[in-house]
Amino acid sequence: MLSERDNALLTRVGPGTPMGELLRRYWTPALLVSEVPTPECAPVRVRLFGEDLVAFRDARGRVGLIQENCPHRGASLYFGRNEAGPDGTCGLRCPYHGWQFDADGACIDMPSEPPTSTFKDRVRAKAYPVHESGGIVWTYMGPAEHMTPFRDFGTETLRPANAAATKIHTPCNWVQAMEGNLDTSHISWLHQWEGVEQIPDDGSDKPGYPTNAMSWKFWRHDRAPRLEIEDTWYGFKYAGIRTTPNGHTHVRVTAYCYPFFTVVAALPFSTRHGVFVPIDDHNTARFTFVTRDVENPHGIGGPGLFERTPFTHARNEQGTGVLPRVYTAENDYGIDRDVQRTVTYSGVAEFVSQDFMVTESMGPIYDRSQERLGTSDKAIIRMRRLLLGAARGLADGAPPPAVDGDLDYRGIRSAEKILEPGADWRALGTDDDPLVRETDPPARLPRAGG
Ligand code: FES
Ligand SMILES: [Fe+2]
Repeated sequence: MLSERDNALLTRVGPGTPMGELLRRYWTPALLVSEVPTPECAPVRVRLFGEDLVAFRDARGRVGLIQENCPHRGASLYFGRNEAGPDGTCGLRCPYHGWQFDADGACIDMPSEPPTSTFKDRVRAKAYPVHESGGIVWTYMGPAEHMTPFRDFGTETLRPANAAATKIHTPCNWVQAMEGNLDTSHISWLHQWEGVEQIPDDGSDKPGYPTNAMSWKFWRHDRAPRLEIEDTWYGFKYAGIRTTPNGHTHVRVTAYCYPFFTVVAALPFSTRHGVFVPIDDHNTARFTFVTRDVENPHGIGGPGLFERTPFTHARNEQGTGVLPRVYTAENDYGIDRDVQRTVTYSGVAEFVSQDFMVTESMGPIYDRSQERLGTSDKAIIRMRRLLLGAARGLADGAPPPAVDGDLDYRGIRSAEKILEPGADWRALGTDDDPLVRETDPPARLPRAGG
């Protein structure tokens, strides 16, 4: 549990809040590149950390991210015209009186004032810097004098054709949404289904990499995983440890990176990020992105995790782009009570919506003073403690953690495996893991500037 004071400190992200100030020190996914695909395309609304912004790609292909309300008298620039301006300039022109702003927020045309006026040189729209990488438009919203380097999780060297990023909206606080990705215990419950018992034993319940199908069986077999945590320079990683039907030790290792990045355990290891970006205190944009041209080159684990499940997975249906919400609170997530009784534990027909059902139903911000946390909640407790410490530290003048440009963000990986007797899970998915050395060697790459 958390005190009401700590809960507010943890969850509130508006300008001037300690957590809001911390989050603004990190380059953050703002929107998908596919939302502003071509020069002079329609602008899009972007709400981020409680600030209303508009994104556009100008006639020369540059992305701008500027305040939504026109600096003149506040009309929404979402309704603006994205067009070339005088003298080779270009930008978003307000529909009300024609003031035009470029991607840096400079007012480049003010046709409602006399031609001799220099007023436009003294007017600016608030603009944030952007960087396109991995199919995502990233931004930095902190103080310019404290700008941190762009953190390359691997997207900088991704071939553009392989970039795959998604965004989906969840109407609850970002920490609440993120806690689901740091909670291995719930895969033994929320996402379970009866047919798991009928999956034939394919012989992979032994030290090494099991199949995805057998993995479901392990989650169902041992429904009270033991959690162990290791603090790292980027945050922490933790193992959910389960005993298999044959008595072996199965581990799922998930990574948490400041401030809202998660890499959830997958076979044999993963670098696919799930990111929980606050739209405001009560809404979250859940992004995913890939960081490698080839994932799992040996195909370890066999057919995908959702091959046999009686529910779908949003990412399988649509691998990139803004994902629609079909199952929401308004339709009770489509819960089918007969299916819940006989087929699946949740009764919800889509995997991520099973998660949304539980995290959104807590309310926009759950009152964490009402919680009763157990041993299986260790990882979320650690995440909260790290974030609270970092927000308080920044307010006291300490630098934000894990922002150094020389750190190897590309080396943050999750993992899943059945351990050899006596083996330690901590090396799994690191540069010391033999499979990582073979298939994903560390790369020291030039980084994009901030
Ligand atoms: S309100 Fe935008 S130009 Fe007047
Ligand atoms: Fe889940």
